[in-house]
Amino acid sequence: MNGKIGVFDSGLGGLSVLKELMKLLPGEDYLFYEDSIHNPYGIKTEEELLEITSNIVDYLLENGCKIIVIACNTATTCCMKSLREKYPEVIFVGTVPAIKVAYDNHFKNTIILSTPYTSQSKRVQELLHDYTDVDQNIINISGENLANLIELDKKDEINELLHRLLDSYVDVADSMVLGCTHYSLIKDEIHAVLPNTTLLDGCRGVSEEVKRQLEFHDLLSNKEQQGSLTIINNKSDALIQRSYEILEEL
Ligand code: DGL
Repeated sequence: MNGKIGVFDSGLGGLSVLKELMKLLPGEDYLFYEDSIHNPYGIKTEEELLEITSNIVDYLLENGCKIIVIACNTATTCCMKSLREKYPEVIFVGTVPAIKVAYDNHFKNTIILSTPYTSQSKRVQELLHDYTDVDQNIINISGENLANLIELDKKDEINELLHRLLDSYVDVADSMVLGCTHYSLIKDEIHAVLPNTTLLDGCRGVSEEVKRQLEFHDLLSNKEQQGSLTIINNKSDALIQRSYEILEEL
């Protein structure tokens, strides 16, 4: 079936979801929209985020997308419901912190690290309500400006912030939910701070849900050969170049 898989995020973080999608569905064509100009989403209001994400959805639809993947926990927790109401004909798949994965695996001390918006969101409260074991301790932490530092590739500041936020949980946390797609790009740095903690993200789960939706709607590509990838970055071409490098490394 013709039509691209549209994917977006407030910049480079969505590459972690895109990579899993391309592994699972290699024959599809992808249009990845990096909204680096508006990074970070995590400190914006609901109104601002709805306007920003609606503009991106319009762009992706105008450019032939058959499904839209919100590769961003902040945009999903904030806008998914409103976007579904606004675009009832569009198939959306969102990304939420992998709290259910921590629950399914019976972890006992779980850090949820996410953006300021996501960590305070109603959606995260709902997920915690539905997927927390009685004997599971949850440590809900805001990653402050971590997503922005990752976007800007500020390595020293990233490490400083990680130590400040996480040092007291060394040998305490058995698991950590990476509740922002940018954080999946710095798994090595997080592991260096929390060597005995299992890191969980929802990237694989998102790609499986996209496959299910495409199958259900009979929209899977039946191409045998590798599909195409177009990356748009509204801030700079250098970030597009960096995106291809990150995709290689992931
Ligand atoms: N990558 C995003 C997320 O998953 C947003 C980061 C940001 O722009 O604050 O939440």
